[in-house]
Amino acid sequence: MSRHPQPSAREYERLYQQRRAPWNLGEPQPALRELVEAGWCTGTVLDAGCGVGELALAVAARGHHVLGVDLAPSAIRSASEQAVARGLSAHFRAADITELDTGGEVFDTVLDSGLLHSLPESVQSTYLAVLRRVCRIGGRIAVLCFADRPDARTPDSGRLSERRLRELFADGWAIDELVPAEIFGIIPDGVSESSTWPRDAKGRTPMTGWRLRARRVDDAQNRVT
Ligand SMILES: C[S@@+](CC[C@H](N)C(=O)[O-])C[C@H]1O[C@@H](n2cnc3c(N)ncnc32)[C@H](O)[C@@H]1O
Repeated sequence: MSRHPQPSAREYERLYQQRRAPWNLGEPQPALRELVEAGWCTGTVLDAGCGVGELALAVAARGHHVLGVDLAPSAIRSASEQAVARGLSAHFRAADITELDTGGEVFDTVLDSGLLHSLPESVQSTYLAVLRRVCRIGGRIAVLCFADRPDARTPDSGRLSERRLRELFADGWAIDELVPAEIFGIIPDGVSESSTWPRDAKGRTPMTGWRLRARRVDDAQNRVT
């Protein structure tokens, strides 16, 4: 069990209202931005747990139809305002991803920048069931999450082991990549031991993560392979 549980919906909202969300870099997480810039996304895109929408907006700037979903209304308001300010066509919705109703719409690409590790372990399977429903067969997903590896430098809660990730993506997905990746955060001085972790030239702290890429495969096909 984690010593610190993941934040509640109210705590996420408060972090955004007070502009204290440590994952807000003012740009997408580099490990996912590089995929977007390399043209990895295809077709319509869902950014699950989009926060203030930097990743979704980077995708929209490349001409994709994008839906960003986040629990925190303030984050969604900020993302929508940025879309208007930047003249981009992107849609944002405040919703709990585990209850997402897309009215039958399916997406070609799903991006998850720090959502999976933010969900309590008990609801991660429900989230994966939603992803299987909203990602079309043949579609793709990229996930960036905190890693449970020896000497990992991450917050206490939410780390995922390689085994846990393979278990979550065992049904309905074919994993193409599961590699170490950095997740950056902006950690204020004096909050905890994490304030002493090294920072890069932009003041961001690199933490230990995984980047997973998988393809949505037909469930029957998955059982055979
Ligand atoms: C670590 S932050 C990452 C935000 C954004 N993807 C980024 O990279 O800046 C995790 C986000 O997931 C959102 N979140 C947590 N639980 C959620 C849920 N059940 N449904 C939708 N969003 C959720 C939080 O509000 C928060 O914005």
